[in-house]
Amino acid sequence: MQLFLYKPASCIKTMFSYNEVLQRVEYEISQLRFNKSPNSLYVPIEYILSLGGKRIRPALTLVACNIYSDTIEPSIAPALCLEVFHNFTLLHDDLMDQADKRRNKSTVHKLWGENTAILSGDAMLIAAYRLIADSSPMHLKELLDLFTATALDICGGQQYDMEFEVRTDVTEAEYLKMIHLKTAILIACSLKMGAITGGASKEDARHLYQYGLCIGMAFQLQDDLLDVYGDTHTFGKNIGGDILCDKKTFLLIHALTHASAEQKREMYQYLEQKTLDPLRKIETFRRIYDELGLKEITLSRIEAFYDEALSNLKQLNAPEERLTVLKETGKILLHRKS
Ligand code: IPE
Ligand code: IPE
Ligand code: MG
Ligand code: MG
Ligand code: MG
Repeated sequence: MQLFLYKPASCIKTMFSYNEVLQRVEYEISQLRFNKSPNSLYVPIEYILSLGGKRIRPALTLVACNIYSDTIEPSIAPALCLEVFHNFTLLHDDLMDQADKRRNKSTVHKLWGENTAILSGDAMLIAAYRLIADSSPMHLKELLDLFTATALDICGGQQYDMEFEVRTDVTEAEYLKMIHLKTAILIACSLKMGAITGGASKEDARHLYQYGLCIGMAFQLQDDLLDVYGDTHTFGKNIGGDILCDKKTFLLIHALTHASAEQKREMYQYLEQKTLDPLRKIETFRRIYDELGLKEITLSRIEAFYDEALSNLKQLNAPEERLTVLKETGKILLHRKS
């Protein structure tokens, strides 16, 4: 009698599809437990983590790991750390941006108050460190150093974002630096952590980081665009939130630079007087953005970042077929509406 001691080679799982990676991420998140007391601290954490979201950061970590390694197990701990950390930033960000809605549900500070959003957020940051500590000792120091540097720089990006609200002379270069810090480096970090845990060379880890930076810049430009032109239900956030907070988005910076005297007068009226009708403010800014063709200009910048991202993939020392899922993931992000 023939005993099948191991599976035939064709059945051994080597490459995971994007959907399989997402399912694994979702499963791992559902296994996280925050059911301690006090409930008032932990229930908001379970709440935000249960609302889904795209899970792109942990997914990218697993996908990047899978380029170099048939097993994705070593990437699970850092991937979970990144998703919990990302959700922590959302709790604080929604408070800072006075956002009422996230993932089509009420934000934590709206449901439980500002102090809860602060403290549950802090607890999530600590939980993120606890998760990354489960990484293999072989990679732990490198992962921790990368994570800590990234997390600190994100605070810098958020600080610039807030400071820019009260300025009208923010340049495009300043804006690009701000989104590099607040958004792009976390996506780059996700890919690099995958590369590290998959055993990539230093060179490849660097190229994947650069790829992530470009994808991350495109990601924030899309976020700015969707905040004006997105569908509330699909986007899961209130449309026009950036306009109401005077956020210096890519669109507003371009509008303030290229507007006619009359368009500038209209915008400055709203920027200087905080008590004017919010719905009219959103309508006015959107009309001026339309008149200036800013949707198309933003879309072409997004494409340019995407092309730059792809040029980094060409530098990788990995077989073409191992990059299929990463390329597919990039395309999904490029066309995202949520
Ligand atoms: C929102 O991130 C914050 C930004 C950097 C724009 P995501 O768009 O990834 O949010 P979720 O996790 O999918 O909800
Ligand atoms: C998000 O920027 C950056 C971080 C959360 C660190 P936004 O403020 O644009 O994100 P959303 O639009 O609220 O998701
Ligand atoms: Mg926000
Ligand atoms: Mg913000
Ligand atoms: Mg936004």
